[in-house]
Amino acid sequence: MRKLKIVMTASEMAPFAKTGGLADVVGSLPEALAGRGHEVSVIMPKYASIHTDMELFHSPMGVWMGSKQEWCAVYRKKIRGIYVYFIEHNQFFNRDGIYHDNYMNDFADNPMRFAFLSRAAMQLCIDKNYSPDIFHAHDWQTALLNAYLYIWDIKNTSIENAHSVLTIHNMAYQGTYSKENVNYMGIGWNNFTFDKFEDHDRVNMLKGGISFAEAVNTVSPTYAEEVISGQGYGLDSTLRSKGSRFGGILNGADYTIWNPETDNLIRANYTKDNMSGKWICKSHLQDRFGLERNYTFPIFGIISRFTYQKGYNLISQIIEKLLSETSIQIAVLGSGDKDIEEYFSYLTRKYQGKFCCHIGFSEELAHVVEAGSDFFLMPSLFEPCGLNQIYSLKYGTLPIVRNTGGLSDTVENCDVERKSGTGFKFYDFTPEALYGTILWVLSVYYKRPDLMDILRYKAMSQDFSWGRSAERYEQMYKMVLGIS
Ligand code: ADP
Ligand code: GLC
Repeated sequence: MRKLKIVMTASEMAPFAKTGGLADVVGSLPEALAGRGHEVSVIMPKYASIHTDMELFHSPMGVWMGSKQEWCAVYRKKIRGIYVYFIEHNQFFNRDGIYHDNYMNDFADNPMRFAFLSRAAMQLCIDKNYSPDIFHAHDWQTALLNAYLYIWDIKNTSIENAHSVLTIHNMAYQGTYSKENVNYMGIGWNNFTFDKFEDHDRVNMLKGGISFAEAVNTVSPTYAEEVISGQGYGLDSTLRSKGSRFGGILNGADYTIWNPETDNLIRANYTKDNMSGKWICKSHLQDRFGLERNYTFPIFGIISRFTYQKGYNLISQIIEKLLSETSIQIAVLGSGDKDIEEYFSYLTRKYQGKFCCHIGFSEELAHVVEAGSDFFLMPSLFEPCGLNQIYSLKYGTLPIVRNTGGLSDTVENCDVERKSGTGFKFYDFTPEALYGTILWVLSVYYKRPDLMDILRYKAMSQDFSWGRSAERYEQMYKMVLGIS
């Protein structure tokens, strides 16, 4: 097929700015698409936390927001063959934090910041006379781009023939703000209607983006089903109205970063045929997290944002019972909700040697936990895709997941009789179900080392590399372009 010009817009991209899986996807999908012969670039903010060298590409750039013109500069850098363009706007992006301050308070001007980002991405293409075939927006932060393409007058500009798609990584975040933002956003009061942007008299950026986008996807087939059948956070019918222009495309894993054979952030490398390095990684994890250096105790790893999505209210109801009644060790890496942070700090003091939580964001420790743990705990209430369970499989760290969204699509439940599976699943979102599953896991761990070996081997043989998913994205682009 012909080479497509694809411009992605996003608020995060690894390794430049990351709070979660969105950054991993935007950090890897462009390269996978480029590998299929396409020209892909990414446009994102130049946050204060980004210190990498980059070249000035375009300055000054004027961007009309409603009746106000914003001025910014654009820098660029090539990484893994992909040009990344950084929008510099000091008032909007040169501050600590991506979405919120250190106390987790969302920045009040988020609707303006990200509406501006979307508009700036279009302006950059126009100013540079670049004609993308596809604008690919991610999440509410850049969803407005899908609408701007049809609302703003782009006739006789380089982008007049561009098409738009939108990937939704999480329906729980929709960017819903006071309708006072409509003027600055420049979306027009005529579009402040229930079928487009209006949501209980507020402006819903994701909803508007979905309404205007030519195709929309979310990040796993099961989550795509869930969000049109009651779990779409109020947007089920908006998504349903897209018909066959809405679906699920499973995320991939970037095995150049997440692979125990080559990972240089872990103490020893290993493969599914020679696991000796994993046991070195296990001891290393115990040392790094101050856990008792005992090879026989199973370590359960957790890495995540501390939000209700990830099932912390289940964990907190059983964790002390587990820690006091079993020989389990738990290593947690994460940050977010202050109550959860405080509770885990308390547990770290109370159960020294058995439980340890590192509060903060550390790429290195994430790899240390993935490699050194025996099991990875992800009891999510909902999970659009989830990447850590996919990484865990490759590290032979068996995921324990609730059967929801992408967790359902990526983990195969252990079947003791048939000696098959890649992890452990539970279904009901109850502390009893989670507790019972962990007891089951412990019995397999202690009594069936043969089965543990089989499960690890099968988990490490799974292939979730980006190739297949990139092909699905290509099909979505072709659909909106009307080409085969
Ligand atoms: P979500 O996007 O909902 O947070 P995912 O499982 O899709 O969940 O992706 C989370 C990504 O963020 C993974 O790459 C994970 O390793 C990383 N991550 C989350 N919390 C931390 C942390 N505290 N330190 C380092 N990496 C983290
Ligand atoms: C979101 C979801 C997560 C998904 C990630 C990347 O943050 O919560 O499940 O893996 O986006 O798509």
